[in-house]
Amino acid sequence: MFSPTSAMTVETQHPGDDAPANPPLVTIELHVNSAVWTLCVEPRMTLAEALRGPLQLTGTKIACNRGACSACTVWLDGVPICSCMMLATDVGTRSVTTIEGLASGEKLHPVQQAFIDHDALQCGFCAPGMIMSCAALLERSPQPSADDVRAAISGHYCRCGTYPHVIAATLDAAKMRRA
Ligand code: FES
Ligand code: FES
Repeated sequence: MFSPTSAMTVETQHPGDDAPANPPLVTIELHVNSAVWTLCVEPRMTLAEALRGPLQLTGTKIACNRGACSACTVWLDGVPICSCMMLATDVGTRSVTTIEGLASGEKLHPVQQAFIDHDALQCGFCAPGMIMSCAALLERSPQPSADDVRAAISGHYCRCGTYPHVIAATLDAAKMRRA
């Protein structure tokens, strides 16, 4: 769907690369957080780079940039994926949801609120990805166990060691949602 109120066009080159041998840009549409964006990107641009660069959705973090830490987790048609491992050109018409798209206006998603209430972040670098995976867990399992949460965040590296707080926050968010 192309929404005239939300559609935007952005032209971009891969950051820092001005070599004459650049491959030709490819025009794509990305469906992100209920908006449709038209971008001209290099074929090698990842979804994570497209989100953080031309779309300025910097809530999605890039840490390892090789599928090892899950900091870059977003939803693709509701399923958490590592956005550093997908080319922007491969997204197609699938719907991307980022941490910026999780709240309803000014109202935070219960998992976002619970992360604040439970002090489930220190430097915060892993938090957006963790929140996306925990929120996806609650979509498919409204009453998860602590082990379910552990499994949901098993691919996420938190160098600050917030895991116990993340588990408590997610279980609390599940209670809030059920209430
Ligand atoms: S930045 Fe994507 S998995 Fe680490
Ligand atoms: S809060 Fe710092 S890496 Fe997780």
